[in-house]
Formats: sequence, structure tokens, C-alpha cells
Amino acid sequence: MTPRTVLVTGAAGRVGGQLLPGLTDVALRLLDRRAPDETYGGEVLLGELTDRDLLARAMAGVDAVVHLAGEPSPDADWADLEAPNVDGFVALLGAAQEHGVRRVVYASSVHAMGRYEAEGRYPIDATWAPAPCCPYGATKAFDEAIAGVFAHRNGVSTIGLRLGATEPEPYAARQLPGWLGPDDLRQLVVRALEADVHTGVYAAVSANTGGRWSLDTARDDLGYRPALDSADWADVVEDDGVGMTTCRRP
Ligand SMILES: NC(=O)c1ccc[n+]([C@@H]2O[C@H](COP(=O)([O-])OP(=O)(O)OC[C@H]3O[C@@H](n4cnc5c(N)ncnc54)[C@H](O)[C@@H]3O)[C@@H](O)[C@H]2O)c1
Repeated sequence: MTPRTVLVTGAAGRVGGQLLPGLTDVALRLLDRRAPDETYGGEVLLGELTDRDLLARAMAGVDAVVHLAGEPSPDADWADLEAPNVDGFVALLGAAQEHGVRRVVYASSVHAMGRYEAEGRYPIDATWAPAPCCPYGATKAFDEAIAGVFAHRNGVSTIGLRLGATEPEPYAARQLPGWLGPDDLRQLVVRALEADVHTGVYAAVSANTGGRWSLDTARDDLGYRPALDSADWADVVEDDGVGMTTCRRP
């Protein structure tokens, strides 16, 4: 079912900036603690995810949520991750349930499965158990678990997208296996908003040559048809000698 009104959290961020131009067929409401540069006609609500009154205003009358707000750094300490990535997401799911929001599409990360990449076990099947490589990845694995609980017990449809390196173009060799380009990001989020799926978690990368995340379930369940390949930038990116998108063993 195509939603009519979509709340996008974290709309002022890097992923939000790449996504919003692709959400042209819906009425937008945008939530962030800072003002987005471009609103694409959306109503803007400024404040914290953990503010219950703000969340209630944000959820009123929306059909679906695209949840991007959070701490995105794989190097972040637990102290900086807990409020935005754990408490904020639980608050958001509770508010979505209270207000009868049909679907929450949320940003997980390839870091929720990062140990498989470190161990060379790929293609990484999206149905394998989470195996985070850092505290950041562990918050995303928790988000996937609690989103499944809300789908199971509370009737909120939840779809997690394990975003790879989400950049207009890859700029370093480490991003090549797990790059997600803007057109593919937009397509995947729209598919996730519309798909006839109650709950699930999917790899969210482009069709990269030498890609390490299996896109089989994203193709089958969501109808994702990625069109971009990081190999087109392989000759121009900085060779950082890392060779992987998630965290290496120290
Ligand atoms: N950028 C990537 O390559 C990438 C890769 C994998 C996953 N992700 C995930 O995608 C999401 C967006 O990432 P991004 O790169 O755009 O990050 P970003 O930091 O650029 O944007 C996040 C936005 O969320 C807002 N925000 C953070 N905490 C908030 C709070 N408690 N209340 C209200 N607003 C809050 C920030 O102001 C910011 O505008 C994150 O959940 C991140 O973990 C990003």
C-alpha cells in the first residue's frame, strides 16, 4: 500500500539529504534536532526523539515513518549511542503504535553484520543471526530485535534496511564492497514503504561488483532492483588499504 503522509526523522542528515528528493509522491513531515537545508515542501518539527510530546505531534496523521535519526558513527562510544539509537528508537516505536502508524522503515546498518565481513564469510545472508563488529553495530542489532517485537506483539509493521556506505559517490576503497548509491537508496526506501511484508531486515547496498551482502531477500520480498555498481568508481577512489566497509579486528 502506498502511504500518503510520511514522517522522516533525521531529515537534516546525510542520508536524509540523499533520500528526500526521491519521496516526491507523498506528503512529508520532517523531524530533526536541527533544521534541514531543503524541506521539499515538508512540515518541519524540531526537537529530540525522546520528547514524547514532539513524537505525538510528529506521528499524528502519518501513514508511515522513515526513521533515520541517530548516531551514525561506528567509532562512537556506548555513552553517545544509547540515547539516540536505543532509547530514541524505542520511544519512536511506542509512539507509532499509539498513533496507529502502519509501517516504520528504519535505518539499520551493515555494521549489525560486520563480523561476517571481518571473518571473510560472504556473501552475507540477511537472514543470518546479527553479528555486530562495534557498539554502534550492536545498537542496530538491538533496533532490529525490538522492531521485530513491535511487529510481533503490537501490530506495527517494521522493515529494517542495513544501509551500507551511503554516499553520492564512493570516495575510498573501503566503501566499494558496501556502497549504497542515491538512486538505489531512494528506490529501496520506496519499495520498503510499499511492500506487502509485515516485518523483516534487509541488506541495503548497491549491485556492487564483488559485493559482500546478499541482496536475494531484498529482491524477492521488496522487489529491489539495484542499478548502481561501485566498480564504476574503482579507478578513482582513494586507496585506503582497508578493503572492507565495516570494522576490522584491531
Ligand atoms: N551515512 C551512512 O553511510 C550510513 C550507513 C549505515 C547506516 N546509517 C544510518 O542512517 C541513519 C542516518 O545516518 P546519517 O549518515 O544521515 O547521519 P547524520 O548524522 O548525517 O544524520 C542524522 C540526523 O539525525 C539527527 N538526530 C540524531 N539524533 C537525534 C535525536 N536524538 N533527535 C532528533 N534528531 C536527531 C541529527 O541532527 C542528524 O541530522 C543513522 O541511523 C545511521 O546509523 C548511515
